[in-house]
Amino acid sequence: MKRPELCIGIDVGTSSLKALAVSRDGAVVATASIEYEFDSPRPGWTETHPDIWWRATCEALRNLTSHEAVRAGDIVSVGLAGQMHGLVIVDSDNRPIRPAIMWNDQRTAEVCEKAQREITAAEIWRLTGNRLLPGFTAPKLLWLMQHESETMRIAKRIMLPKDYVRLRLTGAIHTDMADASGTLLLDCENRRWSKEMCEALSIDDALLPELFESTTPSSRVHDDGAAATGLPVGTIVVAGAGDQAAQAVGTGITSEGSVACTVGTSGVIFATTNEWRPTPHGVLHSFCHAIPNRWHLMGVTLSAGGSLRWWRDAMCEDLVASARTLGVDPYELILKQAESAPFGCEGALFLPYLSGERTPHADPNARGTFVGISTRTTRAHLTRAIVEGVTCSLREVLALVRQTGARADRIRLSGGGARNRFWRQLMTDAFDLPTATVEQTDGAAYGAALIAGVGAGLWSNIDSATAHIKESNSTRVGPDAAYFPALARRYAHAYSALAPWFAEQSAEQSAQSRSEQKVLD
Ligand code: XUL
Repeated sequence: MKRPELCIGIDVGTSSLKALAVSRDGAVVATASIEYEFDSPRPGWTETHPDIWWRATCEALRNLTSHEAVRAGDIVSVGLAGQMHGLVIVDSDNRPIRPAIMWNDQRTAEVCEKAQREITAAEIWRLTGNRLLPGFTAPKLLWLMQHESETMRIAKRIMLPKDYVRLRLTGAIHTDMADASGTLLLDCENRRWSKEMCEALSIDDALLPELFESTTPSSRVHDDGAAATGLPVGTIVVAGAGDQAAQAVGTGITSEGSVACTVGTSGVIFATTNEWRPTPHGVLHSFCHAIPNRWHLMGVTLSAGGSLRWWRDAMCEDLVASARTLGVDPYELILKQAESAPFGCEGALFLPYLSGERTPHADPNARGTFVGISTRTTRAHLTRAIVEGVTCSLREVLALVRQTGARADRIRLSGGGARNRFWRQLMTDAFDLPTATVEQTDGAAYGAALIAGVGAGLWSNIDSATAHIKESNSTRVGPDAAYFPALARRYAHAYSALAPWFAEQSAEQSAQSRSEQKVLD
């Protein structure tokens, strides 16, 4: 009997790594997932050592290849997806010099202000189609150039998180157009590194990885990679994609008119475009898609599922324990409690800016905030306020996407947030558009596997690889949609009222840490 040909997708996420094997008919035959933590050495800073990702990859692939449905010899290709914008920096022996600085790290606010004195926002937009945001990779590199001269002295190459996994697997330092877009060093329109951006920011372009379109079989598993993971030597590794473009492939958001909302740690509204159409002032990210000659618009709520995860860990120990006893997902119990509170939470409101914010407010100083609490407020109200706050933020991002003229007749929901019926209905009402999920829920890892399959010739292109993707959980707009505009206005007003206070607090904290630094010096 002919053995199946399998492609492997790996998603290097913020708090876990997922690997899965997909057969030619698009079915997932096995999955493996490994959790890890990231560090927050100071408020607003987030770091992970890249070797944590590599160890998780080895463990996940060993678990996957020990599954009876996955014989190592059946694997034809591997696709990598991963959290975007992170900065991995290695020395001449390809060893990480320091922990990676992650996508939700906000340490670069001052660096960005300084850089804007050397290159104007208009020029950055002309060269990249985007604006300088603290979470992007280029300002992280500028920060290292200003604060860690020893790191920079021995730095040989930089790369994005998933590309470090590729380095350990194949020895190659490569990246793809979609992930490269989030560095702010890519000329996204022409799909090449922007020498002008590098020059303007005094960044040495020899540090950058080699660039490929997502499906290009750009490298192969080498001896060390094979020994560590159990993959056969010589297995094709395609360039892959940043997690958001991979997620879009995995949920079939691949052509103009398709719009998605993904609630993972971050919350993302993603719209595919068949032509290069950057938004004025870069209010939305305009990035390359994982498909040649296609791009996408995207806006990001930095702490979406991340806000609920924080709440679970900080305040819901009892529900986590009950969930363990019942053998259910803790979020099921947490969201059940949220649902018991009334719409609007009797005035309690949550702003989900735990790590600052990116869209629509490019504000690294903003912080998570509860307002409007009274003696009637219970934990159920506060939990619901978190879900409503995140949903209001996504609604604001969707409004920006629609203002560009992007067609949106319905929204495809994915990520952890879309698994819950209550949150799905809330998003549907907030967006005032019908929504649906897809049957295949493994998003970015699944998309990475489809991209790998195209690279190995299992499908002729991404459109045919995604043709089998089917919708499920169709949800119609419900009566609460009528109340959302008022809630959204209150939410928006709370941010504008608090923005000056956020800025003041951040300036005070910076002054304090400068004086502490002086004492240490
Ligand atoms: C996208 C973004 C996040 C990360 C982590 O711009 O910053 O979605 O990719 O998932």
